[in-house]
Amino acid sequence: MHILGIETSCDETSAAVVKGGRHIFSNVVVSSLREHSRYGGIIPEIASRRQMECINAVVDEALKEAGIKLKKIDAVAVTETPGLIGSLLVGISFAKSLSYALDRPLVNVEHIKAHLYANFLTEKGNKKFKEPKLPAVGLVVSGGHTQLYLVKDTTKFKLLGETRDDAAGEAFDKVARILDLGYPGGPIIDRLARKGRPGPLKFNAGKSTGSYEFSFSGVKTAVLYHHRDNAPLSRQQTADVAKAFQDSVVGVLVERSIQACREHGIRTLLVGGGVAANSQLRDELGLYAAQSGINVHFPSLPLCLDNAAMIAGMGYHLLKQAGKRR
Ligand code: KG4
Ligand code: ZN
Repeated sequence: MHILGIETSCDETSAAVVKGGRHIFSNVVVSSLREHSRYGGIIPEIASRRQMECINAVVDEALKEAGIKLKKIDAVAVTETPGLIGSLLVGISFAKSLSYALDRPLVNVEHIKAHLYANFLTEKGNKKFKEPKLPAVGLVVSGGHTQLYLVKDTTKFKLLGETRDDAAGEAFDKVARILDLGYPGGPIIDRLARKGRPGPLKFNAGKSTGSYEFSFSGVKTAVLYHHRDNAPLSRQQTADVAKAFQDSVVGVLVERSIQACREHGIRTLLVGGGVAANSQLRDELGLYAAQSGINVHFPSLPLCLDNAAMIAGMGYHLLKQAGKRR
């Protein structure tokens, strides 16, 4: 079964063709990110305008790359929520019209859970791919969300805890802004932190509360005060701050996810969302999970970020499940 996925929740316009919920035939992503960077954040009107302009071409390109005709698509899956309302509307209206014109089912997919589903995707023809074993604990770390889930199967998720304030990606973006590094902050801080020196500078992202909740607004404010009291910072001092900030965020993400696995007797950990691309998180979580006998899965770097393949993949399972209920 070939599913056409459409994703337009934020700055990106993406379309993908995925077979059997697993094999990616195409995954085209166009982003208006560069246009937003001078404002230090996403401007919703710019995002939705660009999406309206390019969605047709992006879908055409995804079909062309996949080598499949529109008529051969078995269903259309689309990001329903969460996201910017104008942006979501572009994708949903387009997907609805296609589903109606083709007389194929339309599947609504939740973006956050699809970030975890990205771990079940592989390139077309990869027979060696080993699917993660379920049940699992799922850690979603994106620009808008930080959540821990118990993943019973590909469509059954139980929320264990989430952030009380800022999301992890949001904290990266805000700290980069304080340090005048540009937008989006995550990849910039990731690179700069590698040059930071271990030292007395420490920030606290709220360790050991014993719950599965997160809070990142405090660490962001601590960076703000440090910057206010010490500016102007040299390039090396800025790298030291980036490292200390990233250490604290990664530390708490690792601690809570391993704790959730241990307390639920679970041996699989799925990570997803933009911050899952963070090199220190990938390294440290890999290390601590191995020490605890847990198999940790990260999507490939492009699949950590917003993309339609994860929507098409998850759509396949939702459709199958709806078929069973009928
Ligand atoms: O999942 P995503 O593409 O969009 C949302 O659904 O929000 O995540 C975007 C977020 C941004 O906050 C960005 O700064 C962060 O992911 N990000 C990173 C890295 N790459 C992207 N954060 C830390 N390290 C990275 N390498
Ligand atoms: Zn996302």
